[in-house]
Amino acid sequence: MADVSLAPTDPCARTPLDVASIRADFPLLARTIEGKRLVYLDSAASAQKPRRVLDAMRAFEETSYANVHRGVYRIAVEATDAYEGARRRIAGHIGANSEREVVITKNVTEAINLVAHSWGRSQLHEGDAVVLSEIEHHANLVPWLMLAEERGIELRFIPLAEDHTLDLTDLDRLLDGAKLLSITAKSNVLGTVPPLRRLIDAAHDAGALVLVDGAQHVPHKATDVVALGADLFAFTGHKCVGPTGIGVLWGREELLDSMPAFLGGGDMIRDVRLDGWTPNELPWKFEAGTPPITQAVGLAAALDYLAELGFDAIAEHEVALTAYAMRTLTERLGDRIRIHGPAEPAERAGVLSFELEGVHPHDVSQILDERAVCVRAGHHCAKPLMRKLGVGATARASLYVYNDTDDVDELADALEATSTFFGTG
Ligand SMILES: Cc1ncc(COP(=O)(O)O)c(C=O)c1O
Repeated sequence: MADVSLAPTDPCARTPLDVASIRADFPLLARTIEGKRLVYLDSAASAQKPRRVLDAMRAFEETSYANVHRGVYRIAVEATDAYEGARRRIAGHIGANSEREVVITKNVTEAINLVAHSWGRSQLHEGDAVVLSEIEHHANLVPWLMLAEERGIELRFIPLAEDHTLDLTDLDRLLDGAKLLSITAKSNVLGTVPPLRRLIDAAHDAGALVLVDGAQHVPHKATDVVALGADLFAFTGHKCVGPTGIGVLWGREELLDSMPAFLGGGDMIRDVRLDGWTPNELPWKFEAGTPPITQAVGLAAALDYLAELGFDAIAEHEVALTAYAMRTLTERLGDRIRIHGPAEPAERAGVLSFELEGVHPHDVSQILDERAVCVRAGHHCAKPLMRKLGVGATARASLYVYNDTDDVDELADALEATSTFFGTG
C-alpha cells in the first residue's frame, strides 16, 4: 500500500477549470436519482459526453448521413468528407504527421489486437520476446498471451514496485533482445504513470519497437505521438468524452505500410479477384467494412472540446482534485481506507482504487449508488495486478474535468456512512 500523506502545500480545491460551467455542458450530469444529485466518479471506465459531441453526431445523422467511400451522390460525398475530415482533425489533435497514420478501429482493444495479429503474427517467432508490465489492462495482455500460446513467444513483465510505480531496476535485462515493448501510459487501477520517455529510449536502444496503450492518457494530457517517439499508439473514444464504438491506432507510416492487413472485407482492398486480392492504401488497408462514421464525427468534436478546455488546465485540475481526494479520504476514514497507487498526486492519475475495511468493494459500490455516487467495483480488467496487490477486487473512484470537491465530499460522506452501516466505523 502507498503512503497517502500529502504535502501541506496541497493546492486543495484551486483549479483552473470552471467546473460549474463544464458540468452544464454535460446533459447527463443534470440528472438526479431519487432527488439526489448524480456524482459521477467512473470516467476511467467511460466519460460522459458534452452536448457539443451529442449535437455534432446528431447534426451529422440528421443532415449528411450515408455510407462512406462508395456513393457519388451528394450526401454520400458529404458523409465521406465528414468521416475523412474527422480523421484529419483526430490526426491533428494527436500530433500525427499525416492522416495516413491514423487507423480508425472499434476501440483501443481492437487497435492492440490489430498490432498483435498483423505485426505480431508476421514478425514474431518462437522464442522472440515481448515486454509488458504487471499493471497492464487485459487489452494489452490477452492479445500477447494468445500469441504466446500460438507462437511460443516469450513474455517478460516489468514488475510493480512497492510504491506502486514500475520497478525499472532490471529494465535493460528485460529489454535485451526483445522485439517489442507494449506498455500503458497510465494505469487504470493505480493511476501509475510509467516514465514513457525513458522506457521508449531504452526499448529503442535495445532494438525493440514500442506500442503505447494511451487509453487513460489521451483524455487527460496533450498527446503528441511524434514527439513521444513511440512507434505505435492506441486509444479509445469513450474515455475522452467521445462515443463508444471508436478507437484509434496511430503508427509510423512506414511501419504501418509494412504490416499486413488485419481483417478482410470491403474498403480494405484495392482489387479483389476470384484468385486473390490487393490491399488498399493506408489507412484504409486496416479498416475492413463500414467504419464507425458517426462516431468519428463525435470523437473529433470530443477532442476539439478537450483541447478548448486546455490540457494544461485539465492536468492542473486533476492534480489539485486528486490531492484533495487523497487527503480528504485519508483524514476522514483513517485506517479504514486503503488507497492503492503512488502517494504523490502530481505523479499519478486521478484514479483512486481503494478498499474499505470490512466491506466488499461490490457492497461499497452498491451502497454508494443509494446516494447516487457512481464508483466502479471489480478487477478493472487487470486480474494479474489484482493478484499482485493481494485482492480480488477494489472500488475505484476516478476524477475528471466535471468533478469538483463537492463530489469528493459526497464520496467521503457516503464512505463514512457505509463504514458505519457495516459496523466498522
Ligand atoms: C489502460 C486501458 N487500456 C485499455 C482499455 C480498454 O478500452 P476499450 O474497452 O475501450 O478497448 C482500458 C479501459 O478501461 C484501459 O483503461
